[in-house]
Amino acid sequence: MEIKRICCIGAGYVGGPTMAVIAQKCPHIKVTVVDLNEKRIAAWNDVNTDNIPVYEPGLSDVVAAARGRNLFFSTEVDKAIAEADMIFISVNTPTKTYGVGKGMAADLKYIELCARQIARVAKTDKIVVEKSTLPVRTASAIKDILDHTGNGVQFQILSNPEFLAEGTAVQDLFAPDRVLIGGDTTPEGQKAIQALVDIYANWVPKDRILTTNVWSSELSKLTANAFLAQRVSSINAMSELCEKTGADVNEVARAIGMDSRIGPKFLKSSVGFGGSCFQKDILNLVYIAKSYGLNEVADYWEQVIIMNDHQKRRFAKNIISTLYNTVSGKKITFLGWAFKKDTNDTRESAAIYVADDLLSEQAHLSVYDPKVTEEQILADLNYLDTRSETENTKGIIVENNPYAACEGAHAIAVLTEWDEFKEYDWQKIYDSMLKPAFVFDGRNLLDKKALEKIGFVYQSIGS
Ligand code: NAD
Ligand code: UGA
Repeated sequence: MEIKRICCIGAGYVGGPTMAVIAQKCPHIKVTVVDLNEKRIAAWNDVNTDNIPVYEPGLSDVVAAARGRNLFFSTEVDKAIAEADMIFISVNTPTKTYGVGKGMAADLKYIELCARQIARVAKTDKIVVEKSTLPVRTASAIKDILDHTGNGVQFQILSNPEFLAEGTAVQDLFAPDRVLIGGDTTPEGQKAIQALVDIYANWVPKDRILTTNVWSSELSKLTANAFLAQRVSSINAMSELCEKTGADVNEVARAIGMDSRIGPKFLKSSVGFGGSCFQKDILNLVYIAKSYGLNEVADYWEQVIIMNDHQKRRFAKNIISTLYNTVSGKKITFLGWAFKKDTNDTRESAAIYVADDLLSEQAHLSVYDPKVTEEQILADLNYLDTRSETENTKGIIVENNPYAACEGAHAIAVLTEWDEFKEYDWQKIYDSMLKPAFVFDGRNLLDKKALEKIGFVYQSIGS
C-alpha cells in the first residue's frame, strides 16, 4: 500500500518538526498538519519562517523548503482526515489534573477526541498512527472507538513513538538512533507496518527501523524516557554526596562514563531535569504499575521523580542559606528559563520551581533567557497558583539584555545551559553587582577558575 496523503493531528513540538521532516524527505507525499489552535497554525504559516511557533535549530529551513509544496498547516481538521491514507495522532497527553489518577495518569481525553473525530469523518480505509506518548494498551481503546463507527471503514492502528529531544529535533529526525513501529501481527497489520516502514526508508537506513507488536512499542517509549531520566536522577543523587565528601561529580561522571557498559551520555548533573515528558511519562508508568498491583515496581520508578524534586528544591535552599539565610528584598538574576538550551519550551523547567521557592522568600527576581518571552515566564509562575498574579508580576522583572538583568544583583543563578552565557564579559557583570557577588551554576556551565579570579563566589552542582 503506497501512502500519498498524510494528516497529522497536533501541530506542536512533535507534530510540527516530524511532519516537516517527512515532507522534506518524501516530496511525493502530501503532508497536512492540523490543529484546533488557530494562533499556532497561523504562526506555522507565517511568511517569515523565523516566526514559526517552535524554536529548533535548523527547523525554519526545513519548513521553508517544503511548506506550500507538499507541507501544509491548517485548521480544517475534518478535511485533512477525510483526504488522508495515514493519520498521525500527535496531540498532547498531559498528566491528569482531576478525578481518578489525578497527578499521575496520562489524560487521554485529547486522544479520544481525535479517535472519535476520525471515526465520524473517515469514509475510506485509514492507517492511524499513535505518535503521542501513550500508556501501554491505549491502541485497544482507540481501536474500540474506531471499530464502532458503523460505516464499514477498515482501520489499522500502529504505534510509532517519537524519540526526538528538543533543541536537537531536526538532527534527531534526520538521523534517528532507531525508528520504532508497533503493529498487529495479522497480515493487515503487517501491511500497515510496511507502509510506514516505506515512508521512513526514504531516509532512514533499514537496520534502524525496528518493528514490534503494538504493546512493546507503546511500553518501550515510556521505558526509554524512564531510563534516561533515571540516569539524570542517579548522577544528581551522587552530586549531593560529592558536595559532602570532596569528590567532584564531573570527575565521577567521566570516570564511570568511560566504562562502555555505562556510557558517557546523560550523566550531566544539573539543577534537575525538566521538559514536558520525563516527569509525565514516569508518573504514568508508576500509575500503570500500581494499577496492576506492582507496588515495588511503582515505588522504584517514583524515586526518580522524588530525587528530581529534591534536586530543584535543594538548589533554591542553598541559594537562601548561602545568602546569609535571607533573600528577602534581594535581587537575584536568573540566566535561563527554558528547560534546556536551544529551545523556547519551558514546560516543567527547573527554573519555574526554583523561582517559586525564592519568590516565597520575597526575593526580587530578574530573568534573562534568549528565547523565552516575559508572557511565558509569568504564565509558568501563575500556573503554579502559589500566589496571586499581581504578586508574581511584582516579584519578577524580565529583561532582554543579560547585562541589565545582572546589574545590582546579589547573586546570579544559571538555570539553562545556553552557550552564549559562557561568552559574556564576566568582569563587566562582576563590576555591576553587589559584593560579595555570588554565582550559583545550576548547569556546571561556567569556568570556575576564571570567575573566582575575577572575584565571584562561585558554586556549582556536585563539587
Ligand atoms: P504540544 O502541546 O506542543 O502539541 C500538541 C498540539 O495538539 C497542540 O497544539 C494542541 O492544540 C493540539 N491538539 C490537542 N487536541 C487536538 C484535537 N482534538 N484536534 C487538533 N489538535 C489538537 O505537545 P507536544 O510536545 O508536541 O507532544 C505531543 C505528544 O508527543 C505528547 O504525547 C508527548 O508526550 C509526545 N512527545 C513529545 C516530545 C517533545 O519533545 N515535546 C518528544 C517525544 C514525544
Ligand atoms: C527527552 C528524551 O531525551 C527524548 O528522547 C524524548 O523523545 C523526549 O524526552 C520526550 O519524550 O519528550 P527532551 O525532554 O526534549 O527529550 O530533552 P532531554 O535532552 O532529554 O533533556 C531533558 C531534561 O534533562 C532537560 O532539562 C535537561 O537539561 C536534563 N538533563 C539531560 C540533565 O540534567 N542532564 C543530562 O545529562 C541530560
